[in-house]
Amino acid sequence: MDKYTIAVAKGDGIGSEIMDAVLRIFDAAGVPLNYEFIEMGKPVYEAGHSTGMTPLAKERVEERGILFKGPMETPKGKGVKSINVTARKVWNTYANKRVFKTLSGVETVFSKAGIPIDITIIRENIEDTYGGIEHMLTRDVALCRRFITRPGCLQVHRYAFDLARKKKARRITCGHKANIMKITDGLFLETFYEVAKDYPDLVADDVIVDDLCMKLVVRPNEFDLVVLPNLQGDIVSDLCAGLIGGLGFAPSSNIGDHICIFEAVHGTAPDITGKGLANPTALLLSGLMMLRHLGLTQYSATIENALLKTLESGLHTADFGLEAIPASGTNEFVNVIIRNLGHGPSKSKPVVGLPDQFKYTAPILPKE
Ligand code: NAI
Repeated sequence: MDKYTIAVAKGDGIGSEIMDAVLRIFDAAGVPLNYEFIEMGKPVYEAGHSTGMTPLAKERVEERGILFKGPMETPKGKGVKSINVTARKVWNTYANKRVFKTLSGVETVFSKAGIPIDITIIRENIEDTYGGIEHMLTRDVALCRRFITRPGCLQVHRYAFDLARKKKARRITCGHKANIMKITDGLFLETFYEVAKDYPDLVADDVIVDDLCMKLVVRPNEFDLVVLPNLQGDIVSDLCAGLIGGLGFAPSSNIGDHICIFEAVHGTAPDITGKGLANPTALLLSGLMMLRHLGLTQYSATIENALLKTLESGLHTADFGLEAIPASGTNEFVNVIIRNLGHGPSKSKPVVGLPDQFKYTAPILPKE
């Protein structure tokens, strides 16, 4: 099979530790990808680029269409923009898909109670307060503007409904705060039901975001696909990560019509950086989303089965698992996943992939 080249940015903090770990697994599994490493994030800010991205890095991502990205630090304070937000906006990756699924071998209160969780959050990814349009109105009054647009809402809702249909979702739910923010969240909710009319085969409903949080904690198995505005989607995502064992297990993709970015939900974990302790699973699962996006479903299934076998064995990094079993470092964890390639889980169903075929063509970007 021909190899396809994707852009890879290792990121800051634990970024290079977990990216190296994941690429080592890909290489051991013979995944037919080449990597073009680009600089984004902290060193780029430090070199004086206030966006955190060089023009060359931008060009490379646009050529390849796919960016596999480690977490990147957003420097605190004024004058620089979050590279994560910039990347999503520059490439109009309007839908942030985040999957929270019970993993066999990762114990939680729900897994112990025999309650399976499989929730997909679709977070609007480029509007809302993440525009970062803030200023001081007076010395004592700070103002933040929140943009919610009809085209912005329609594109994320359409993506969510298409996905719900494709995955035969039991239910698609809109989370919002339209009872208070009647105009902005009101527009998000109104457009949700506008789009719902084109999908009469799906059960569509809505829940106010605070009630949603309570219901997710009490009965997470009642939810399937949930679409939310940007900030609320970010917060609810971390809540869902907690339900399935933590941020170490939460993968994501940022989907646009031309460029897609695959990254873990978590950040740079400065408290464990350089200690060889990081859990690479969330980035690995994001990489598997990327492989499936490219049509490499068999490679994805082989690696996922090796991961599940590893988790079922009780092997774990320090952020999860039983205290009775000493925690492994990132390298040891990865070595065992590699040894398990070709094997599958025994306590859960092995994942089955379709025959691999690249179904991806590099994007043609509209002229500026
Ligand atoms: P964080 O996600 O980096 O860390 C929160 C907690 O989870 C920490 O205790 C950390 O050790 C733990 N953790 C996270 N990932 C882990 C992993 N793979 N294995 C084991 N433990 C893990 O969030 P925090 O501390 O709020 O943010 C740190 C930096 O990351 C900030 O500069 C923030 O802006 C950035 N960030 C970047 C994101 C991205 O690149 N998409 C997303 C979220 C935050």
